[in-house]
Amino acid sequence: MDIKTHYDLLIEENNDPFRDPPVLQKYMESWDGQAFLDLMELDPSKDVLEIGVGTGRLAAKTAGQCGHLTGIDLSAKTIERARENLRPYPNISLICDDFLTCQFTGTFDVVYSSLTMMHFRDKGRVIGKVYSLLNDNGLFCLSIDKNQSEWIDMGNRKIRVYPDTPDEIISLAEQAGLKTKKKAETENAYLFAFVK
Ligand SMILES: C[S@@+](CC[C@H](N)C(=O)[O-])C[C@H]1O[C@@H](n2cnc3c(N)ncnc32)[C@H](O)[C@@H]1O
Repeated sequence: MDIKTHYDLLIEENNDPFRDPPVLQKYMESWDGQAFLDLMELDPSKDVLEIGVGTGRLAAKTAGQCGHLTGIDLSAKTIERARENLRPYPNISLICDDFLTCQFTGTFDVVYSSLTMMHFRDKGRVIGKVYSLLNDNGLFCLSIDKNQSEWIDMGNRKIRVYPDTPDEIISLAEQAGLKTKKKAETENAYLFAFVK
């Protein structure tokens, strides 16, 4: 099944991490959490982009710490849910589009993404586009799943993914012109801050 249909279906199935009970929210933070937020060095002067914003789980934490947050997601139903969840934050713009083909109008001080990179087959193209969207000295903060499975198996459907490895990501980032600034690790993910 394609990614867009899968994430549209998750909303129909009422699977929304933003609305998870606290114990499940804590579990999701084992892919990012405070360690990931710290890498972003957010402050009210920063213009920020989240790739694969989902229903707004991380956006609700970053929006209050930055000047403006743009969130992009492929799934229309997910973006619709994100609009509801993130209504209290006046400084968020949401775009329903494919990150790789979206024509952005501006550039950003921080681009971040969690639990999304495994959906991209051509990771070099993603990182090259991030580079082109970053201001000088801008940060690309990335969380990659440690899970090396090539499928998300939902029981009733399977979605092909493209697992990430730290060495490949660092190599692609450096080929694109980014420098590795910081590395960190959580229970379920490797975290990076790359600087332009
Ligand atoms: C596992 S969810 C993670 C959502 C959010 N980052 C979080 O951690 O809660 C991955 C999200 O990436 C989005 N996505 C996948 N491929 C994308 C693409 N090419 N462009 C934009 N969004 C994409 C999916 O629609 C989905 O909402």
